[in-house]
Amino acid sequence: MLQPAELTLAEMGDLASIIPAADPEVRIRYHPIPDFDHRTDQSTGRSIIPVCKPTLEGNELKYVTQAIETNWISSAGSFIRDFEAKFAEACGTTYGIACANGTIAMHLALATLGLEPGDEVIMPTFTMIATANAITYCGAKPVLVDMEPNYWQMDIEQVAAKITPRTKAIIPVHIYGHPTDMDPLLELARQHGIMVIEDAAEAHGAEYKGRRCGSLGDASGFSFYGNKIITTGEGGMLTTNNREIAKLAWNLRDHAFSHERHFWHKYIGFNYRMTNLQAAVGLAQVEQMDKFIENRRHNAQEYTSRLASIPGITTPPQASWAKNVYWMYGLLVDEKKFGMNRDQLRKALADNGIETRTFFIPMHCQPVYWEQFKGQRYPVAERLCRDGFYLPSASSLTLSEIEYITSIIREVCPNLH
Ligand SMILES: Cc1ncc(COP(=O)(O)O)c(C=O)c1O
Repeated sequence: MLQPAELTLAEMGDLASIIPAADPEVRIRYHPIPDFDHRTDQSTGRSIIPVCKPTLEGNELKYVTQAIETNWISSAGSFIRDFEAKFAEACGTTYGIACANGTIAMHLALATLGLEPGDEVIMPTFTMIATANAITYCGAKPVLVDMEPNYWQMDIEQVAAKITPRTKAIIPVHIYGHPTDMDPLLELARQHGIMVIEDAAEAHGAEYKGRRCGSLGDASGFSFYGNKIITTGEGGMLTTNNREIAKLAWNLRDHAFSHERHFWHKYIGFNYRMTNLQAAVGLAQVEQMDKFIENRRHNAQEYTSRLASIPGITTPPQASWAKNVYWMYGLLVDEKKFGMNRDQLRKALADNGIETRTFFIPMHCQPVYWEQFKGQRYPVAERLCRDGFYLPSASSLTLSEIEYITSIIREVCPNLH
């Protein structure tokens, strides 16, 4: 039987201090499926403002109904092709390969490179675990770098130091919807003949120097999970301008069926297909993507204008070369200046019916990767983990909700009174 990797806080030494308080402390528990709307807090009866929720106000129902009425509900059908084409166009790429989720969009992209055991892939330690797992699925080794402190993205200067003859790819992850500084990364990769696979799971429509994330590297992976800027419930897409990668990804996605004869396989393929039903939702969502992004940018401004002057609060960054899409509106809390720590502030918000989520726990602190990265330290990622959390960030968040949430933060800030 598979055994879990156990790691106690005591074994983590001083790294234990960055690990967030256990969820019961903040009462509104982690809800894995953000498909709810007006949830209520059982103990107070008050409705909760969730961290995120999908907005399904376009052609979703119409297109899903069409798929059902025409009997095309499996993984062939016109919505798949239309969604692939429209999303690729929205990203500024030639090809889009729809698949079952964002994790396997990344795995599919890496699988096309033909990684072998012992190959190395450089990635930021501060990300969601799917980035590291996609590398591990290929039998390759994730190699970690820290974040730069200004924009909370992968530190490109550290990437150069981690390149070895075994490095086959670099994965920049556009964290929380802000792009990584891609030009120096692409130049470095070009000099060393290394592929760049963007993890754009959180960055639909984000722009780097006028070009959209997902079109900058050799290939990219997006997620359409229920909490993403556009969603298909579960779903993902690989985008690329590289015809060879696209052809191989389409084939690997579908058990690597050969074109010569049926049931004739030249690769170990996967069943990573998306259904026409999901793609029907996806097409309706991509039609609304620009509006969702506009709402998020507007909401971020509204949040920032109310929060920036509170002592000890750092609002989300925006580089001059970037257009953030604020997948999640994240804050850092400086305990001394604010007067309470991140977990205490989350508890105060939870007590007022506001759901929040802590920032990611870095890969070098994960039980399952502990032995692999033992002894490695990444101070910026550790600070983000210790002090960071995000506020409700749905595209449909209203001004009055933002006013309410920010008024609670002001009210509970000990150093404002
Ligand atoms: C950075 C990053 N990569 C990959 C994924 C995986 O996407 P999915 O949940 O669709 O598998 C996520 C999901 O939240 C993510 O945030």
